[in-house]
Amino acid sequence: MKRVFVSAGIVSLVAFFSYCNSTKKATVEKQPKKASFNWTANIKPLMVEKCSPCHVEGKGNKLPLDNMDNVKTHVDDIIRRIEMHPGDRGYMPFKNPRLSDTAINMIKTWKAEGLL
Ligand code: HEC
Repeated sequence: MKRVFVSAGIVSLVAFFSYCNSTKKATVEKQPKKASFNWTANIKPLMVEKCSPCHVEGKGNKLPLDNMDNVKTHVDDIIRRIEMHPGDRGYMPFKNPRLSDTAINMIKTWKAEGLL
C-alpha cells in the first residue's frame, strides 16, 4: 500500500514539474519579437503582383524578384527605385503606377527587421 502512495507521489511530482517546464518554455519562445512582415506572406506576393511580368521567373527577362535571395541582395536598390517617381531615371515599377506608401514602408520595415 505504501508503494502505491509513493508512486502516486512521483507521478504527480513529474506532472507538476513538466507543467512548470512547459509554461516556462512557452514564455521563452514568445520572447523574440515577431517580424511585422515576412517574405512568403507579404513580400513575395507584392513582388509578383507589382513587378510582373518583367521580374517574374519564366515571364520576364529582368532580374527575378520572386526569388528571395535576389530581393535580399538588391534590397537597397529596390527601395531606392520604388521611392522614386514615375519619369525619374531608374524608377520602378517601370511604366507602371508608383507603389503605395504602405507597400513601400512594408519593404523598408522588412529590411529593418532583418529580411525574414
Ligand atoms: C514593365 C516591366 C517592369 C516592371 C513591371 C518592373 N521592372 Fe524593374 N526593371 C525593368 C527594366 C527594363 C529594367 C532594366 C533597366 C534599369 O535598370 O533601369 C529593370 C531593372 C530593375 C532593377 C535593377 C536590376 C539589376 O539587374 O540590377 C531593379 C532592382 C528593379 N528593376 C526593381 C523592380 C521592382 C522592385 C519592381 C516592382 C515593384 C519592378 N522592377 C517592376 C522593367 C520592369
